[in-house]
Amino acid sequence: MENLKKIAGIKAAEFVTNGMVVGLGTGSTAYYFVEEIGRRIKEEGLQITAVTTSSVTTKQAQGLNIPLKSIDEVDEVDVTVDGADEVDRQFNGIKGGGGALLMEKVVATPTKQYIWVVDESKMVEKLGAFKLPVEVVQYGAEQVFRRFEKAGYKPSFREKDGQRFVTDMKNFIIDLDLGVIEDPIAFGHQLDLQVGIVEHGLFNQMVDKVIVAGQAGVQVLTSTKGK
Ligand code: A5P
Repeated sequence: MENLKKIAGIKAAEFVTNGMVVGLGTGSTAYYFVEEIGRRIKEEGLQITAVTTSSVTTKQAQGLNIPLKSIDEVDEVDVTVDGADEVDRQFNGIKGGGGALLMEKVVATPTKQYIWVVDESKMVEKLGAFKLPVEVVQYGAEQVFRRFEKAGYKPSFREKDGQRFVTDMKNFIIDLDLGVIEDPIAFGHQLDLQVGIVEHGLFNQMVDKVIVAGQAGVQVLTSTKGK
């Protein structure tokens, strides 16, 4: 699996050329993309500016001497490469397994070419087996939690080292154990409207390309919808 993640990450770097503003994703697959960009800067003189999607990726990029800007210092992002937790055939996806969904969506939104890198195990018929992360403000988080419970979403607060997990933006994450999300677009809209929710991990039809690494090779799926 690790090898497939690496193949997908390195393949995605082919979409990066000199002069681009590049969004650097978060997670164990995007990691390999970031490493490859660092290698090309060092060995091939690639010239880019990058924006990151988490404090973890910022640290990695700094270690590789990748020139960084904040998302507010750029007008748009030419290409962003990120991982995903589940992707369906309609190019909807769940992200946020690593807890970076808010920054990831903020960077994805002004991105011209948005690419996901996944191994084949992430491709699914229907989303929902992976628990859907929802980022909520700390104030009133129990209220949101109870609302989710009543709605039958089987919520759980994400924890780390026995404490509630706090995101880079200082919010909590509530994971929803939905089993199957029959209509991700409708469900995403429903979450968008609720007070206390900052963002959710449904990235519906935002992605332009999904690079899928499998035992039989690498496939590049292109969406006709995109952002
Ligand atoms: C981070 O918050 C996530 O959105 C990741 O991009 C996603 O969880 C995929 O991570 P892996 O590549 O580690 O599976």
